[in-house]
Amino acid sequence: MLTMFQLCQVMVMISFSSSITLLASDQLHPAEVEALTQIGKTVKEDGQPSLKFVGRCQSGRVVETEPTSAGNSTIECNCSITDDNYCHITSFQLEDYDLPGRLPPELANLTYVQNMSVESNQFSGVVPPELGKLVNLKTLILSGNKLVGTLPEALAQIKDLKDFRASDNNLNGTVPEFIGNWTQLQKLSLEANQFSGTIPSQLGDLVNLTDLFLSGNKLNGSVPDSFFKTDKKIDVSYNNFSLPPSCQDHQ
Ligand SMILES: *[C@@H]1O[C@H](CO)[C@@H](O)[C@H](O)[C@H]1NC(C)=O
Ligand SMILES: *[C@@H]1O[C@H](CO)[C@@H](O)[C@H](O)[C@H]1NC(C)=O
Ligand SMILES: *[C@@H]1O[C@H](CO)[C@@H](O)[C@H](O)[C@H]1NC(C)=O
Ligand SMILES: *[C@@H]1O[C@H](CO)[C@@H](O)[C@H](O)[C@H]1NC(C)=O
Ligand SMILES: *[C@@H]1O[C@H](CO)[C@@H](O)[C@H](O)[C@H]1NC(C)=O
Ligand SMILES: *[C@@H]1O[C@H](CO)[C@@H](O)[C@H](O)[C@H]1NC(C)=O
Ligand SMILES: *[C@@H]1O[C@H](CO)[C@@H](O)[C@H](O)[C@H]1NC(C)=O
Ligand SMILES: *[C@@H]1O[C@H](CO)[C@@H](O)[C@H](O)[C@H]1NC(C)=O
Ligand SMILES: *[C@@H]1O[C@H](CO)[C@@H](O)[C@H](O)[C@H]1NC(C)=O
Repeated sequence: MLTMFQLCQVMVMISFSSSITLLASDQLHPAEVEALTQIGKTVKEDGQPSLKFVGRCQSGRVVETEPTSAGNSTIECNCSITDDNYCHITSFQLEDYDLPGRLPPELANLTYVQNMSVESNQFSGVVPPELGKLVNLKTLILSGNKLVGTLPEALAQIKDLKDFRASDNNLNGTVPEFIGNWTQLQKLSLEANQFSGTIPSQLGDLVNLTDLFLSGNKLNGSVPDSFFKTDKKIDVSYNNFSLPPSCQDHQ
């Protein structure tokens, strides 16, 4: 017969072991599994979805059944980034697949993602404004697709961005002033698009911006003096700037 003390001990042991089980869970959050499933449907080979996920996070990687040989997907996860007993996707890379169709807005459901790249696919359509919900992003790489239209204002919310690249698309409109709100920005690449108008003066205030690649657009006006510091890598060639005489070689 159990004494009260022994009963308590048993209960403590049960609750202790069940919390261990929860901590050791490798389950991805259901909303992120759903998002991956939706995104996976856009990745087709011979008409069949070619990226499939089992909803688990092991050794920092999302477990996927990946029959395709064509591309490069690396999806990283972290099971201790929140205390909700779920693993969350922290890095999402889907490169070099030549994927057609629109850029899936479901990417915006990967709430905890810090680094995202969909470089070198064939994604068309606009940049989904939903991506502005990804406020944990440090790196966002959309380069090498067929994206059109302007950069949506909603992206202004991604305040901690350090690296934004959208080169080699068909984006147009102006280089948005809100990029000046990305105060941590180190690298900006918008080469080979259709951007027009002037460089917003706000970009001159980005003290950490060391890499600025804007060549191959239709930009005019002048380039802020602060960009011509020796510690910066800058390419503003193939635009319609009026440059100071000392910099004409860059034009
Ligand atoms: C896939 O991407 C990773 C990280 O960028 C890179 O190190 C690796 O070489 C790439 N693999 C292939 C096959 O391109
Ligand atoms: C997972 O996230 C936690 C909390 O942010 C962090 O301390 C830890 O270094 C991360 N693990 C990996 C492997 O990045
Ligand atoms: C995201 O990229 C930054 C470098 O830009 C790196 O320091 C960080 O560890 C990366 N985070 C993840 C989750 O991969
Ligand atoms: C995922 O994203 C889509 C498109 O933004 C949205 O309609 C849907 O409600 C989201 N689903 C979840 C589970 O958050
Ligand atoms: C930008 O491109 C879109 C779609 O390609 C077009 O409808 C729009 O008129 C263009 N805007 C500018 C300012 O060129
Ligand atoms: C950018 O930051 C300024 C000053 O903090 C703020 O007034 C403005 O609304 C921000 N712009 C956007 C598009 O968020
Ligand atoms: C610039 O980078 C440094 C070092 O990474 C960081 O401490 C600082 O906050 C950044 N500056 C701004 C204005 O965010
Ligand atoms: C830049 O080009 C636009 C037309 O695309 C024109 O309206 C504007 O006056 C030009 N600005 C400068 C400073 O040359
Ligand atoms: C470049 O600027 C010159 C004068 O500032 C103008 O005549 C020309 O049309 C512009 N070219 C383009 C492609 O905007």
